[in-house]
Amino acid sequence: MSLTPIDPAGRVEDVSLHEAAERYGTPLYVYSAATVRQNIKEMSQAFAGLSHKIHYSVKANSNLAILQLCKEAGCGFDIVSGGELVRVLRAGGTPQDIIFSGVGKTTEEIDLALKLGIACFNVESDQELHRIKQRAQMLDKVAPVSIRVNPDVDAQTHPYISTGLRENKFGVSPEAAEKLYAEAHANKFLQVMGIDCHIGSQIGTADPLVDALYRILELVDRLEAAGIPLEHIDLGGGMGITYSDEEPLDLGEYGARVQQAMAARSQQIFLEPGRSIVANAGILLTHVEYIKPGINSVDPGASHDAPAPNFAVVDAAMNDLIRPALYQAWHNITNVAPEHDEPIKMWNVVGPVCESGDFLGKQRPLSIKQDDLLAVGSAGAYGMVQASNYNSRPRAAEVLIDGSQMYLVRRRESIEDLLQLEAIVGN
Ligand code: LLP
Repeated sequence: MSLTPIDPAGRVEDVSLHEAAERYGTPLYVYSAATVRQNIKEMSQAFAGLSHKIHYSVKANSNLAILQLCKEAGCGFDIVSGGELVRVLRAGGTPQDIIFSGVGKTTEEIDLALKLGIACFNVESDQELHRIKQRAQMLDKVAPVSIRVNPDVDAQTHPYISTGLRENKFGVSPEAAEKLYAEAHANKFLQVMGIDCHIGSQIGTADPLVDALYRILELVDRLEAAGIPLEHIDLGGGMGITYSDEEPLDLGEYGARVQQAMAARSQQIFLEPGRSIVANAGILLTHVEYIKPGINSVDPGASHDAPAPNFAVVDAAMNDLIRPALYQAWHNITNVAPEHDEPIKMWNVVGPVCESGDFLGKQRPLSIKQDDLLAVGSAGAYGMVQASNYNSRPRAAEVLIDGSQMYLVRRRESIEDLLQLEAIVGN
């Protein structure tokens, strides 16, 4: 998994990014189909020694064309809402490809999933199990369920994306899970399928993931002893990638250690990767609108720790990519094949939104001129899906590149699109 799909000539696969920006405008999300396919292949190879199924986590990038690629590469899907369910079907997925995670499934979402016949609900609380049971009874269906267990393992990642600790809202304790399994097993409207956990995102080493698996296996043994067999063990997603110079999760090591832990066991392994499939397959292209040199203090008494930054004001903003503002995330920023040799300076690359938190990167050594085209890297995951219309900014367009082909897979929103759902009062 490489950091960026861009080659030194400013191309993704066989398409020039300058051409993409000219044709579709900026800000523009660009995805490489070959990279998505390659990432799925690498994950699959790492687990080749085990019976396994990859359920791509739709929340990372839910564009229909990305889902279509995942489906074609043999993935199922991990969803967290009715909206994601409909997207998967629209992209060619089947209900049997779908597992449904999330702490707050509504009655409507549960009914939709039951009627369609999804593969499994990952249940996150006793009240949710009861609701699923009631709805299944009402609709005369049998609901396939797994319980999401919170193994209380520290994933050593950003607190906002850590999910497997006691203090997080996700899953239930192994003890509580045991009771829920007994209940589900005894109920004819519920069918126990497996067990599930997901301890967090952007995890850099296999240790916490493998620790979680061993804790889950203790419970699997107790359930089997109680006559409750399971068909699958879902380890969730969370595989870390390289944003700057961090080591990505070693998938080969993870796969080998899972295989070791699963020796002499029959369950199929489910995985729910999101970021590791799409993050480094995507970039956000943005145009430099203005450059503003740093303001040197006129007050001789003023003391500043660092020289005033230079600002490159670009046409992408926190509403397009919120990760830097929300998680202090670092995304690689490069100038796409510039045709000048401006001296390298330190830049804060900022958007037009009226907040100081609106930046894409700070203190970046770059050679920049007005009207350059910049590429923000590792933007394929949790980029467009977390975009908003803040400051009444239409959301970016998205293109998918496959070899020499470039497909517009989401057109740019217009101001009219934004206003369509609103009304003024009276008249
Ligand atoms: N399964 C479950 C139950 C999840 O909650 C998540 C992510 C995944 C799978 C996929 O995890 P991944 O392989 O992508 O790490 N917006 C944040 C990330 C939030 C992750 C939420 N859950 C970000 O931009 O870093």
